[in-house]
Amino acid sequence: MIKIGIDYYPEHWDRAMWEEDAARMAELGVHTVRMAEFAWSRLEPEDGKFDFSWLDDAIEVMARHGMRVILGTPTNCAPLWLYHDHPDTVQWDRSGRPTDLGIRGHRCMLSPVFRRYAARIIEEMARRYAGRPEIFAWQLDNELESNHCTCPTCTKGFQDFVRAKYGTLEHLNQAWGTVVWSGEYSSWDQIKPLLAPDCLPNWHNPAWMLDYERYGAACTADYVRFQCDIIRAFDPNAIITTNSCFCANLPDFHQEFQALDVASYDNYPPIRLPEDPEALTSNAFALDFVRSFKQKNFWIMEQLGGPLGCWGPISPAMEPGMLEGYALQAVAHGADLLSFFRWRTACTGAEMFCYGILDHDNRPNRRLAELDGLCRRLKQLPALDNTTIRSQVALLYSADQEFGLKNQIQSEGFAYWTQLRLFHDACMNLGVNLDILPEGASLDGYRVVLVPTHFITNPAVAAQLEDFARNGGTVVLTNRSGVKDQNGNCILGQPLPTAFRALCGCCVSETDAIGPARQQLTTIHGGTYTISGWCDLLVPETAAVWARYADRFYAGTPAITRNQFGAGQAYYIGTIGEKALYRALLLEIFREQEISMVEVLPRNVELTTRSGPGGVYRFFFNNSTHGCAFPLGSETVTLRPLEVKILTGKGEWL
Ligand code: GLA
Ligand code: ZN
Repeated sequence: MIKIGIDYYPEHWDRAMWEEDAARMAELGVHTVRMAEFAWSRLEPEDGKFDFSWLDDAIEVMARHGMRVILGTPTNCAPLWLYHDHPDTVQWDRSGRPTDLGIRGHRCMLSPVFRRYAARIIEEMARRYAGRPEIFAWQLDNELESNHCTCPTCTKGFQDFVRAKYGTLEHLNQAWGTVVWSGEYSSWDQIKPLLAPDCLPNWHNPAWMLDYERYGAACTADYVRFQCDIIRAFDPNAIITTNSCFCANLPDFHQEFQALDVASYDNYPPIRLPEDPEALTSNAFALDFVRSFKQKNFWIMEQLGGPLGCWGPISPAMEPGMLEGYALQAVAHGADLLSFFRWRTACTGAEMFCYGILDHDNRPNRRLAELDGLCRRLKQLPALDNTTIRSQVALLYSADQEFGLKNQIQSEGFAYWTQLRLFHDACMNLGVNLDILPEGASLDGYRVVLVPTHFITNPAVAAQLEDFARNGGTVVLTNRSGVKDQNGNCILGQPLPTAFRALCGCCVSETDAIGPARQQLTTIHGGTYTISGWCDLLVPETAAVWARYADRFYAGTPAITRNQFGAGQAYYIGTIGEKALYRALLLEIFREQEISMVEVLPRNVELTTRSGPGGVYRFFFNNSTHGCAFPLGSETVTLRPLEVKILTGKGEWL
């Protein structure tokens, strides 16, 4: 059965309230309660003096009401005495100074002193709780970002990282092309982390930045492994996760989650939905992305439970149906556990207007009623957790592309994330399940592989895609593919898309970074679509033309091509289009590849299918604040704003 959880902070509330809170949660049918992830100052009020008595009691109260606990390691917020006694545990920012204390997440995850204290409290917790039946799982730290700390330890760490990679300064200077602007290093300690907050990323050497991002991601993965190892020493069977979020400094999630058992995510979809039909607002992409971290079903550690405050002004109220709709959207994409943030809105602290399920008045409200309805509904679908998302379409992701394109903006409005989402959005609206795969993952069982902007060229991926197409698959590549080598430098002496030229059967004669300008293209079927951001002027070699530009000095020049390659084909999209362009192209490809679709879904209606031994469940989600209706076979499906309809069937596959 899909599990419902609650994020609870016993340390925020009078003990007398715990019992009643637990009873109310149990009545709803809550399975798990997450706690302790920010409670270090209460667990170790003084250096080496531990107090677990209150946590024992809180766990006992929950267990008595039939609920199990997801225990957080409290390392995101070290107590102030630790920072005070050991200033070298404090993270440094991009100005090269220690961060000001007073919010949260100030710890340097590499500081040896911090690691010693973190290890000690995690050990204390694991010794006490690991393996106990009351404990369902562990959450490490909170919303980890890639390590961008600039303290002396982290600086030295970066120097060691590149030294291990390049061996000599000569190799490093060569790989980073530091001859430009006299940036050649003559000693390892001249190598610095990312400083200068006032600089645009584009001003820096991209090769250096790429390795810096790889280093930051490796640090975060190492920090996860460090915590994991401690817990596993006490309970090898512990289920361990960490709650990811999509922050400014994205780590390499696939690397970070390697040591963990299950992926999880803090799911805060937009409360205010934009009316702009071109906006890519659906959270479905984030959910499929999280499923990709372990390529299996995942958990939500924080599910939107109320209007948000603190990190911005208070958001509007959640629309009726939104709490349930967004929760079921997560289930539709593979969530097997949803822990709602949070039980009751805090009365103190910065997040006092970041609403939980209950308001400050602690009385039953509309959101509680909706959560109750959700719990009842999931009880009617007891076998749902015995299903997965199965897909014949893959979207390739790699942290290298994210890093490379984030640090060297190619054109105004052109972002890797957007490129990925444009393809994803079209699949959802055609009712086609999509797996996001890390580069290098097996492509067995897929028929279509979408590869937006493979900027940092991985020759192994190029070879894999050729094999895939040769054997009958369809590959779709886009603009800015094959531009750089693995060091992040441009490839000399070959027309773009370099390693993908033979596969795509075309090359690029000239590029036009048009930014926000809007132009048009026309397809061979006569469709006209708006494009912006980028135009590759294509020269077909073995490819056929699928669309041509309609404007400027290159009107009539090929914009999209299609190349027969072995038993399959490869498309190359030289530009960035409006949503409808991707829908039209994928529709054609999916028809050719005989991938089952539902073509009649109104805009913003998403269809995802979970299937397996537990049955077949089709989730129709109206991700908009307007009602809609559409035909499905001989029936008409009507959906209220934000409603999810679940149609169940038999068999393994629809
Ligand atoms: C994040 C954090 C939580 C809380 C919520 C609400 O996701 O993990 O501790 O701050 O946001 O804003
Ligand atoms: Zn540091």
